[in-house]
Parts: sequence; C-alpha cells; structure tokens
Amino acid sequence: MDNSADGAIARLDTNGQASLAAVDCHVHELLLRQERQERTTLKLIASENFASSAVLEATGSIFTNKYAEGYPGARYYAGNEIVDELETLAIERLKALFGSEHANVQPYSGSPANQAVYRALLSPRDKVMGLPLPEGGHLTHGWSVNFSGTDYQRVPYGLHEKTQQIDYDRLRETARRERPKLIWVGGTAYPRIFDYAAMAEIAAEANSYLVADIAHISGLIVAGAHPNPVAHCDVVTSTSHKSIRGPRGGFILSKNEDRYQALYHPTSKYNLARRIDRAVFPQLQGGPHMNIIAALAVALQEAATPAFRTYGHQIVRNAKALAEALLDRGYDLVTGGTDNHMLILDLRARPLSGKAYAERLARAGIITNFNMVPGDPRDPAVTSGIRLGSPAVTSMGMREEEMVQIAAFIDLVCRQPDDEKVHANVRRDVADFCAAFDVPGVSDR
Ligand SMILES: Cc1ncc(COP(=O)(O)O)c(C=O)c1O
Repeated sequence: MDNSADGAIARLDTNGQASLAAVDCHVHELLLRQERQERTTLKLIASENFASSAVLEATGSIFTNKYAEGYPGARYYAGNEIVDELETLAIERLKALFGSEHANVQPYSGSPANQAVYRALLSPRDKVMGLPLPEGGHLTHGWSVNFSGTDYQRVPYGLHEKTQQIDYDRLRETARRERPKLIWVGGTAYPRIFDYAAMAEIAAEANSYLVADIAHISGLIVAGAHPNPVAHCDVVTSTSHKSIRGPRGGFILSKNEDRYQALYHPTSKYNLARRIDRAVFPQLQGGPHMNIIAALAVALQEAATPAFRTYGHQIVRNAKALAEALLDRGYDLVTGGTDNHMLILDLRARPLSGKAYAERLARAGIITNFNMVPGDPRDPAVTSGIRLGSPAVTSMGMREEEMVQIAAFIDLVCRQPDDEKVHANVRRDVADFCAAFDVPGVSDR
C-alpha cells in the first residue's frame, strides 16, 4: 500500500470516500488504540462521558463543511437554508428541555460560553463573585491566571470551614458589601446541590446578575436529578459533552429581557438575549461549528426521553454508592459524600499527592484526575485530591454493585501505590470487568 502523502492525495482525488485507515494509517492507529483504552479502562473522570453512535455520526458528518456566520435567517454566507433549520431545531429543543426563553447553541465550548457572558453583561474591571478554583469553582469564574481574573475584579466566595459546602450566609455578607455586578453559581469540583433560590435572593439584594454554570450537571438537570436554575438566573451556561452526553461544545440560555438594563446598560439598544447573541457572534467567534450543532440537536433528542431520566438518576445513585463504598474503606471525601455525579477524595492524610495516586490508578486502568481539595497545602499541579465521577460508567450500564467493585479496585491500588505487580493485576481485572459492558459509541460501531 502506498502510504506516502502523494499517494494519499491521489486516492482522495479519485475517491472522495477514502476511509481514514486508507488515508492516514497513523491517525487511524491512534484511534484504534484510544478505542481499546475506552473499552478496557474505567473512565471515572467526572467531566467525561460516552456520546452515543448517533451523536458521533452527526459530529463526523458533512455539516462540518458549511460556513454559517450569523444566525438562522440572518447569515453572511449563502446556501444556509438547511443549516438554518438545523440550528433552529437545536435551539427549540434546548429551550423546551430547560424551559428557557432564549438559547444560543454556537459557543465552541464551555469557556467561550462563559467569556461571552462577560462580554454581554460587564465592562472590564467590573466586580465578579465566584467560587475559587481550589474550592471547586472553574477557571472562568475569576481565577487569577484566567482572563476572568485579570480583566475583572474578582471577589471570591468560599466554603464553610466545617461543612465544606457553600457558606450562603458569608456569601450574602460579601455580596452586600462588595456589590458585584455578576455572581457565578456553579463549579467543576463541587459534589453538592446548588441552592439557586438562595443565590437569587442574594443577587437581587446586591443588584447582581446571577449566572449559573451547569457545565457538569446539565444532564442531571434535564433528568430531574438536580434542580433547574433557569427560573432563578439571568443567564445559564453549559458545556454539551459532560453529563448531557452531547458533542464537545457549549450553549447559553437566558431571559429575553435584562432586569438591570436601565441600571447597567442604559444606552444599549439591545435586550439581554440580543447582547448574548452579539457577544458570541460577531464579538468573540466567527462561523459556528454546524456539525457540532447537529450533534447537539441529536443529544437533546436523546436527553428528552424517559430512558435519559432513568440514566440521570442512576448517575447520582452510582456516585452515592461509590462514595459509601469508599467511606466504608476509610477514605475521606470532601463534604463527606455527594448529591450529584462526582466525589472528591481528600488524600491529605495519605503519603502521596493526588497526582501520584492518579498516575498509579491510571496504570491499573482506572482513569481519574487529580484535583485540589479545600485548604489544599499542595500546588495545583500536584494537589492532594482525586475527583471521581459516575456519568461514563453509568453510560456503560453499570449500577450500584459495580460501584462497590470499583471502590475495591481503587483501594487495592491506593493501599499499595508502589507495587507494580498489584497495578498490573488490577489492570487485567479491570479489563475483564469492563468487557461485560457495552461502551456506547465504541463497541456498537
Ligand atoms: C463548571 C465548568 N465550566 C466551564 C467549563 C469549561 O468547559 P470547556 O473545557 O469546554 O471550555 C468546565 C470544564 O470543565 C467546567 O467544569
């Protein structure tokens, strides 16, 4: 076979259908290796999932070819009648699922969605309150190295020292004193329910916009396994690739009207929904990724089914079962447990760092990420914690009893972190264990 670049181009010229294996054996081989990894390891990263074959098919479809700068009915390129229908379909499905007045499906991912919120609501140097990264917040909620921490004044709010949960009383005091223009509610490593009603009261007292970032929990919300923030918030942002099982992307939900228009945007001729849209395009982005919007529409169709409701509740039951099993084995968990899809192992009392344990677990086929814990004495590049999540293993069909077995695997590795024989044995057992389950989008392709 001619695998030279010239040979590949010639085949493409004569045969537009040339397969990946024929055109690029290197990428194809990497793909096969990744598929094998996905089939034989336990994906416990709380922000990852398995998209369905239908979602993957739309992601890899010819919609990737189309330029569609603008919005349905108002594009800067011709030939968009079909993608206009597609984007409108995704928007309408999103609005119906969350009960939102307005939706934008064009953000390239979660961070650009959040950036658009800053552009739409604030001016540089305005005050923003958010949960700091070490306490479970996201980089884009005002962390020092992120644009949100350098271009805006950050006013962190924190966790209660004892409960390790959001301290709403202290938050209220800080908001009253600082009067931030925007308050974020949401996080990347927070294992408990967010009290949106309490946050809405606090935000209203301080004349602050309230923005929920539901990147992690959007699937749980759709399933009814976590409260929906839409009624309480001015804006809601999300990724589409975590618990909601869509393609890698983002979306923004908002009210149409801005309750603070007269106070903060008296000269703007645009309402809140229009300012969000204008922030995404043309202020921050160019052409939307229509293949991703197609795949999002498919994922939203899947998420509207009774099966997805069951799935969302099972995610939470599995996370709780994993938490219980680890607590039984003597592990410490941030907040002492979980109400959602994730748990954070606090390893401060153990000899190694979060990073070192995560590396050992990966060798044994247990894929996690190391994570800061509240009051972490270690650097963010090392940390003293590990974040675990149940969405992906729940997508494989695992239930509570499998979580007990997963806790046993984790314990075996963490108790003998330097015994490579143990890692190799667990690696083999994990592969056997996974073989009994289907991996959506991988084993059914
Ligand atoms: C709460 C939260 N917001 C935003 C993001 C950013 O998403 P992305 O990585 O797609 O930019 C994440 C990603 O982990 C997140 O957890």
